[in-house]
Amino acid sequence: MARHLITSAIPYINGIKHLGNLVGSQLPADLYARYLRGRGNEVLFLCATDEHGTPAELAAAKAGKPVAEYCAEMHAVQSEIADGFRLSFDHFGRSSSDQNHRLTQHFAARLADADLIREVSETQMYSKADGRFLPDRYIEGTCPNCGFDSARGDQCDNCTKQLDPVDLINPHSTISGSTDLEMRETKHLYLRQSQMKDQLEEWIDTREGWPVLTTSIAKKWLNDGDGLQDRGITRDLDWGIPVKRGESDWPGMEGKVFYVWFDAPIEYIACAQEWVDAGKGADWERWWRTDKGADDVTYTQFMGKDNVPFHTLSFPATILGSGEPWKLVDYIKSFNYLNYDGGQFSTSRGRGVFMDQALEILPADYWRWWLLSHVPETSDSEFTWESFQSGVNKDLADVLGNFVSRVTKFCRSKFGEVVPEGGTTAAEDRNSTDASAHWLFHELQERLEAYENHMDQIEIRKAANELRAMWVAGNEYLQKAAPWSTFKTDPEAAAAQIRFALNLIPFYAVLSAPFIPDAAARMLVDMKADDCAWPATVDEALTQLKAGHAFTVPDVLFAKITDEQREDWQQRFAGKRD
Ligand code: 2FM
Ligand code: ZN
Repeated sequence: MARHLITSAIPYINGIKHLGNLVGSQLPADLYARYLRGRGNEVLFLCATDEHGTPAELAAAKAGKPVAEYCAEMHAVQSEIADGFRLSFDHFGRSSSDQNHRLTQHFAARLADADLIREVSETQMYSKADGRFLPDRYIEGTCPNCGFDSARGDQCDNCTKQLDPVDLINPHSTISGSTDLEMRETKHLYLRQSQMKDQLEEWIDTREGWPVLTTSIAKKWLNDGDGLQDRGITRDLDWGIPVKRGESDWPGMEGKVFYVWFDAPIEYIACAQEWVDAGKGADWERWWRTDKGADDVTYTQFMGKDNVPFHTLSFPATILGSGEPWKLVDYIKSFNYLNYDGGQFSTSRGRGVFMDQALEILPADYWRWWLLSHVPETSDSEFTWESFQSGVNKDLADVLGNFVSRVTKFCRSKFGEVVPEGGTTAAEDRNSTDASAHWLFHELQERLEAYENHMDQIEIRKAANELRAMWVAGNEYLQKAAPWSTFKTDPEAAAAQIRFALNLIPFYAVLSAPFIPDAAARMLVDMKADDCAWPATVDEALTQLKAGHAFTVPDVLFAKITDEQREDWQQRFAGKRD
């Protein structure tokens, strides 16, 4: 059994995420985790909330709550919504955990011991109106790289460049809006990434088959200007992991915390410790320490493109720089952006559909199917209500749902709620005479292989296309075989056709489960086939339900989205979220 470690970028704690966030990391990571589990692999799938830094402080201030209280509440909310979307994390941790505090301080000590941290006395933006330094999101201005006018102090969302607050043109405080800023002296720790440029470049150059989106972003920042820059890893903030060298105080760093982007990826490791401490697992080191068995693990990370620099450069610099045998990522799957109805999804502007709102109007599978089959893999993609309505109605209701309903209802009316006996199906005997069944059989063999290959390569849109094509082929078979006509002249042959078609339901359920887990589970329960495993061969899979096997006609699997509903939602989500 192969072992797979999968992490999704950990969402900021500052509020409920929108569908663009969901499709950019958590949802595709879940698809992959479910697929690999379905194929019998041992999987550890981790995610957490990213609780430090300015996003958390700003959101807590807006909510009028102490930060720790705000984070605890929002973690519970995000966790519940993740369950609602059926995100199958083995653990949903918190970057503010004790485990992450200890591990982050440990990494800082190791890096300092390796002379990869330097202390820098520097001037930082100080706001007189706010009486404080303004790191990261406490300051906004124009990006010096691309001219985007709402670039944040730590990164430009438009061009992904990592920034320092002092780089911004026309900066202002996001707390008070004040432009009365001055430079003040403060001391910080810098990770000497520049020392590791060659090591990182070699590591990136030797990664095989990585998506171009991932490597091109990494190469861009490796060779930006004078090359990879050292990076400040501490901040003048109250909330965060106190700067310590392991368990010891760090003279001169009193009252400072680590930068959120230093501790957030370390949470991927700490989360495995949380998983064990929560009693869900026995051993986290065999997933994370190459000296304790993690050499056998394949580690895949999922994230949006804005996160790529941190995962290809900063986090590997932390891991490699520690000189300890930590597992490095094997494959980074990164995504472009999903836009919303002619503009961007935006948390700060409350634009688009948020995860809680989505679940209020439709079950998770509807969203999962549309989002995954339109995932922004090779370019940005766009959510429109028309496309959503059409994807759900055509693929889920007209094709998959209709197939299941037609076959089971026809069977009930002619043979009862039991797999009928008579004749031989193409899966039972390759010499059977049902030509359309042979056609379907070959179609499914080819498409199953293509589907598995795409899922192995995490080519999600291509995989969705193959899955849809297998559903379509089932309907085509029914049209060609026309058991309702066959029944009039040869009921035995019709029984074989229906037995063959009924067997497609658990086959579809197992293959579709990574995309639409709830509908898949219902199909298996109604067919009384919940022990069905991933198909080893099409023959075997399509002979699972034998004559005499009882089943229940499923309720409607997918309701169609009406034009009225679509228009109503279009209007309701046109404005700003409160
Ligand atoms: O962009 C984001 O939503 C970040 N919170 C992702 C962090 S991923 C990581 F490194 F932990
Ligand atoms: Zn920019």
